[in-house]
Amino acid sequence: MNTVSQRVRVIQLYRQILKLGRNWKSKEEGRTEIEKSEILAEARLKFRENRDISDPIEIGKLIYKAEQRIVQADHYGIPYERPEYLPPDTAYSVHSVKQNFQRMSRKHAQVFSDVIVSSPLLDQYKIRKQFQASILKRIITKFEKCGEFVPDEIYDKLGSLMGEKDEEYVERVYFNKNGDQVLFSIEESVNQLSKGTTGLSIWQASCDLANLCQYLPLENKTIIELGAGCGLSGISISANFPSSTVYLTDYNDDVLQILEKNVKKNNLKNCECRSIDWCNFDSKEWLNSNPDLLIAADVVYDTELLPSLCRTISWFLETFPKSCALIACTLRNPESLKCFEKNILKFNMEIVEKISFENSIFDIGDGIEVLTTFPFSSTIQTPTIFYSLGLVR
Ligand SMILES: C[S@@+](CC[C@H](N)C(=O)[O-])C[C@H]1O[C@@H](n2cnc3c(N)ncnc32)[C@H](O)[C@@H]1O
Repeated sequence: MNTVSQRVRVIQLYRQILKLGRNWKSKEEGRTEIEKSEILAEARLKFRENRDISDPIEIGKLIYKAEQRIVQADHYGIPYERPEYLPPDTAYSVHSVKQNFQRMSRKHAQVFSDVIVSSPLLDQYKIRKQFQASILKRIITKFEKCGEFVPDEIYDKLGSLMGEKDEEYVERVYFNKNGDQVLFSIEESVNQLSKGTTGLSIWQASCDLANLCQYLPLENKTIIELGAGCGLSGISISANFPSSTVYLTDYNDDVLQILEKNVKKNNLKNCECRSIDWCNFDSKEWLNSNPDLLIAADVVYDTELLPSLCRTISWFLETFPKSCALIACTLRNPESLKCFEKNILKFNMEIVEKISFENSIFDIGDGIEVLTTFPFSSTIQTPTIFYSLGLVR
């Protein structure tokens, strides 16, 4: 949030709290008028006390605290600060069993908070602040739902994240299947469209394709990725199968630069970046490539490009008879997929298998649920359709 929107939010909150105070109905008989006047008095006092604070991080923390207090008041009918912060002899003092439980839960929550808030990965990688904040919000909600103590560090971290802005380029960190080791990281732009291309950020289809590929037998295989963008799918194969050879291709110079950077920083020796423009494909350069598998993610969106894309895939399948192709498409517009299917047939290929993947479940038989090590969160919920392609012989 910038300073102007922070100021607007503070005013909104002040109004909201005053309204809440005026309409307050206490859960305890006979206390409505007392609590009403205490809410209004506290609101006026706090806003006056904090009027001169200008540090956006400090303001972010206070905004978040106020939002939490409103939720607590609305939801639980408690107009005062949370009991954890009050001295033991106040009105909210609890019995000893509960106190013991809270002490244990505090210790547990503290360890949890230390691991998350003080993770060295946060210094090592430029993890998007918006993602960090949304994870902390989820944790707070979960803790509060179970009546768990939320350590102050989590609120503090969230407050400071809300006052900060991401740089143009951030990093996503991916873990191995056990979740105990960083497998690789990928740099991407925070903007889905940047420098006139969509290739500088990671798209859902490439995460889903990376997920699927980790279950394929790709040891000692050669893989070519078309329209690789930041390279997530191909890089995941290269990292998961060190005996494979992976060619990451794209046609845009800025995209090829970030692709190269992502390969270098992960020290991947079995991975090479090269240029392929489907609309201007120079097949001579690929006569010795001998691929087993061609992959591509989120390349079916512009119907004008589909003949060139399909012609390129078809050339590989025809030239290397043992090869096949796996294309992951995000289902945005069914018409684009229909047009893709027409072009598949037009260029002498067939759909060997078509599988839909949504909410970590493949629609095969009763549905196979897989462990998602390449998560993607989007405001639009839409499945990924995988096309497995072969040549009609
Ligand atoms: C939506 S992005 C997908 C990037 C990546 N596969 C992913 O899913 O994160 C589409 C990609 O196709 C590439 N592309 C578009 N037209 C192309 C062409 N004619 N030849 C090669 N690549 C192309 C773009 O540069 C971009 O990287």
